[in-house]
Amino acid sequence: MAIPREIVEQILQAARIEEVVSEFVTLKKRGANLIGCCPFHNEKTPSFNVNPARNIFKCFGCGKAGDSAKFLMEHEHLTYPEALRYLAKKYNIKIEEREATAEEIAAQTERERMFNINEFADKYFVDTLWNTEEGKTIGLEYFRERGFLNPIIEQFHLGYSPAKWDAFTEYAKQNGYSDELLEKIGLSIKGNKGLYDRYHGRVMFPIQNLTGKVIGFGGRILVNDPEKKSPKYQNSPESEIYDKKQTLYGIFQARSAIAKLDECILVEGYFDVLRMHQVGIENVVASSGTSLTIEQIRLVKRYTSNITMLYDGDAAGIHAAIRGTDMILAEGMNVRVVVLPPEHDPDTFAKDFPLDYVQNYLKTNAKDFIRFKTELLMKDAENDPIKRGQMVRDIVETISVVPDSIFRISYVKECSRLLDMPEQTLINELNKLLRVKFKKSLGPEGDSVPEVNVVSEKQEEPIEEQLPAGYYQERELVKQLLLYGSKIITDEREEEDGTKILEQLTVAQFIIDDLKMNGFLFKDPINQKIFDIFDRAIDENNFPDNQFFVSNEDAGIANLAADLLSTPYRLDGWKNKGIFVKTEEDVLKINALMSIERYKDLILEERCKQVEEELKTATDEADILILLKQKKNLDVLRTQINRELGIVIAK
Ligand code: CTP
Ligand code: MN
Repeated sequence: MAIPREIVEQILQAARIEEVVSEFVTLKKRGANLIGCCPFHNEKTPSFNVNPARNIFKCFGCGKAGDSAKFLMEHEHLTYPEALRYLAKKYNIKIEEREATAEEIAAQTERERMFNINEFADKYFVDTLWNTEEGKTIGLEYFRERGFLNPIIEQFHLGYSPAKWDAFTEYAKQNGYSDELLEKIGLSIKGNKGLYDRYHGRVMFPIQNLTGKVIGFGGRILVNDPEKKSPKYQNSPESEIYDKKQTLYGIFQARSAIAKLDECILVEGYFDVLRMHQVGIENVVASSGTSLTIEQIRLVKRYTSNITMLYDGDAAGIHAAIRGTDMILAEGMNVRVVVLPPEHDPDTFAKDFPLDYVQNYLKTNAKDFIRFKTELLMKDAENDPIKRGQMVRDIVETISVVPDSIFRISYVKECSRLLDMPEQTLINELNKLLRVKFKKSLGPEGDSVPEVNVVSEKQEEPIEEQLPAGYYQERELVKQLLLYGSKIITDEREEEDGTKILEQLTVAQFIIDDLKMNGFLFKDPINQKIFDIFDRAIDENNFPDNQFFVSNEDAGIANLAADLLSTPYRLDGWKNKGIFVKTEEDVLKINALMSIERYKDLILEERCKQVEEELKTATDEADILILLKQKKNLDVLRTQINRELGIVIAK
């Protein structure tokens, strides 16, 4: 069916690229444009660019580019007319639709026919629920009794399939759908007496994909059947359009809330999703009873890296929480677990308690997964040394799947606290596992490879000693070098003739140049080593990555880096202090500047004190004069610094 040219133009003009893309990709503002992680290739640093002014997207990583329709075709595997139709629907533009002729139906592809019959069935079940006597008194009544209100019933297209064994099948056949298609999509089943309805006498849950198309159904029986002659839920079989391992129930309704809140709550069942939405918690999807798959996790990852698993308070629920989770961690996502009180599932819990109680419960009971697992296993193993050994291996195994070494280290620290076990023991265990994995990843030749220390081993416990003045300020600067040393910022510099020029430089350059120019040297030798590494990196314009420091052959550097890197800054921290900063760059600059000045201030204060002491005992007039001059210089410098700090704060 062709769409008239002028309508096509109208659609493409109405479509805003940023609105279309942001349904699938989390975008952040970057100047006039928006950026995000490219959905077409795997990347960690965003190079996917959306340009609202030109109404196009472009990925600087893989080169894909185009307008809204192109994006949908690539991303959702739609044909051009399908993409236009999607946009028309989104922007309320009417396309003249007429009934398809028999010929046109025959020409449709298999996939299209499947989507088409599902849409047809969806309409039928919804219509039956609302507009037939049986639907109203049995189906609608069932939802009502469980406390569901119209908006949710409508939003999720809940429906009803009549008790008569072939009501839907007959209706579909009358409308020209073939037996073959009905059976293939799973709406009907072939029995002795012919085709009959898979879902007869059930309330219906259509399962929608990301774009809202119905790809399958679930149907629940109305009375619990203690003899279990028929299962509580009937679900569609897999088909060309329904791949269970790629599907999350509710993703269509939840995705924008997931992106907005930067968190996805994972539950088990259809009703859990419905209830949470009804009480106003909308970033919720269900794995629908099956154990979580890697594909489902990647689906969530398009919108957020934070998953909260919400599970029933019974043993099965807790078991389900543990399963699948290593997989989420291995994807580099943050996983937290909330266990509900016994006898509750998310549905009953959100039904029985007021919203603020539920929200507060989620907030206060969400446990980092590693912590959750550790505590759980600890209960099991309490006084059993064999179990305890197994437990440690089990936990370390979980930590070892975390891809980011910095997170691994902070987990080791936490577990060492929880298990009351020396960090070093866990590190040794972790290193053993990582070496095995590393060798495996190299294939058969792996054996000849020298051992890698993924977390460097401490020689001995450090002795508490008197720390030199400014030690923490030094560390603060080292931390900024490690975290942001290679990031580019723009600095304003005044020329001798007073003209101001803008200069691009790295954070490392910004910090190191300033300190070197004023003759500051770090007192702590390890801090100074890291300083020197960055000093060299600036010259060579080649910055080592975090792994280089964390796995450094110098144990002092490795330990310090691990420590400093395990508690990154919140870059938006300044907002909380009421300081207005526009970009991440501003924040980096202010952080660096403040740290430099604070450090200098401390060192100068120390020098001042020294000078004052010397003045007290000085007798030679010439000496006194020199000391007084020095003191004056130091005072001038300190005033300058304090002004600088003041300016930064007032900015
Ligand atoms: N499930 C299924 N087939 C079954 C049982 C369960 O497909 N025979 C799936 C459904 O997706 C269901 C989920 O597993 O939603 C969780 O099962 P369960 O907790 O038993 O169902 P609830 O969603 O809690 O449903 P209800 O509250 O109606 O018992
Ligand atoms: Mn339930």
